[in-house]
Amino acid sequence: MKITIIGSGYVGLTTGACFAEVGHHVLCVDNNEAKVQSLLDGQIPIYEPGLEALVRKNVSAKRLMFTSSTEEGVEHGEVLFIAVPTPPQPDGSVDLSFMEKVAREIAQFLDSYRVVVDKSTVPVKTGERVANTIRRYAKPGVEFDVVSNPEFLREGCAVADLMKPDRIVIGGNSDRALALMQKVYEPFVAPVLVTDINSAELIKHAANSFLALKISYANALSEICEAAGADVLKVVEGIGMDKRIGAHFLNAGLGYGGSCFPKDIAAFIAISEQLGVPFHLLKEVETINHRQLTRFVDLIREALWVLQEKKIAVWGLAFKPHTDDVRSSVAIGLVEKLVEEGADVTAFDPKAMEKTRQLPIGSKITLAESALEAARDAEALIIATEWPEFASIDLQQLREVMRTPLIFDGRNLIDPAAAAAYGFQYRGIGRGTSAMLEPMNSP
Ligand SMILES: NC(=O)c1ccc[n+]([C@@H]2O[C@H](COP(=O)([O-])OP(=O)(O)OC[C@H]3O[C@@H](n4cnc5c(N)ncnc54)[C@H](O)[C@@H]3O)[C@@H](O)[C@H]2O)c1
Repeated sequence: MKITIIGSGYVGLTTGACFAEVGHHVLCVDNNEAKVQSLLDGQIPIYEPGLEALVRKNVSAKRLMFTSSTEEGVEHGEVLFIAVPTPPQPDGSVDLSFMEKVAREIAQFLDSYRVVVDKSTVPVKTGERVANTIRRYAKPGVEFDVVSNPEFLREGCAVADLMKPDRIVIGGNSDRALALMQKVYEPFVAPVLVTDINSAELIKHAANSFLALKISYANALSEICEAAGADVLKVVEGIGMDKRIGAHFLNAGLGYGGSCFPKDIAAFIAISEQLGVPFHLLKEVETINHRQLTRFVDLIREALWVLQEKKIAVWGLAFKPHTDDVRSSVAIGLVEKLVEEGADVTAFDPKAMEKTRQLPIGSKITLAESALEAARDAEALIIATEWPEFASIDLQQLREVMRTPLIFDGRNLIDPAAAAAYGFQYRGIGRGTSAMLEPMNSP
């Protein structure tokens, strides 16, 4: 099948590569000419495990192509996927100007029937708006349908998620469009849920909000565990073993970040208010999330007293492990707060160094070559992203390079008893008495 993806970022490029992998002929469009040029030159502008090999393989097989021309894209694909940004506005509602612009561009070049798919995460009723916009700007009588097909991939394992999704949600009201969408997804082995457009759009916001709620639940528990002298790791293990609850996303830490959760939860709150049914529960989810970072900075300040001129190492800058994405990363937010207070920050992330360098904060910190180099002479180490390599660090070596042995573990990655055994003072999240473990004699 011939498929076009408009917007070739984390979602569009990965989706395009996976569609090509199952045999479709995919043209990825992006209006960022530099991005398209680097793709044409064989460079992959983002890090996603397995993506580079998949892109190379399918480009060689001539099933995956790139262009900056929307006109070529509209001509190429029977199905046109829109995967452009839907960023937040200051009031939390979604900036839909990218969607509106693409709808107008598609309309301009539409000559024969196409299915236009909203793959971007959008507020309920956006499909109707996209259809109205295309109708308004397209030549009279030209046929098209709009379908909602929200994306549930997780950065860091996006290829695997796309190749083997938990479910495929297709929202549409035209049999012709739904038949084409079934054809798109025929090669994928996954349950398909067909709904109306509004329900499909709501599913995405409702799903992300529920996951954020689970994270905030664990974080609220972490505060209670600290006050009660209990260990949040054991508490969430105990509740997660209940199949009705499940262990996923029940991790206490610095809170959720990234390009999706914060904006999607804010958007769902704004949507619910516009609909006249404010979703108060989600406001509390947000409040808990923000408090988690504030509490952590308070903990650091309490231990170090003054941050000014303190040499602090930060491990992790990406918003989660296995990605280079630093958009709305809590780790970056934390580094910004430390720098604001005058700390001298040296940071390391296995994949997100380049993306951090491009941020304003990038020029205000030192970026180290390795985790141990970041920790050299540091008066405190903060773990901000749960990369597995940080969990398996040699604590003896770490102890030797640091000036003062103090670990603030924002992701509960290190065993407090092991840290204490190597002479570290350790502060975790919600670890009750163990969060306050004092060092024992070094082994
Ligand atoms: N990143 C995720 O994990 C994820 C997961 C599920 C859903 N989503 C949703 O998918 C959408 C895209 O997210 P992303 O992370 O891929 O964003 P992104 O910023 O990585 O990619 C978007 C791309 O669209 C391009 N673009 C913007 N306007 C364009 C236009 N008029 N024509 C052609 N290209 C255009 C940009 O240059 C950019 O390359 C968002 O709505 C997001 O909420 C993201």
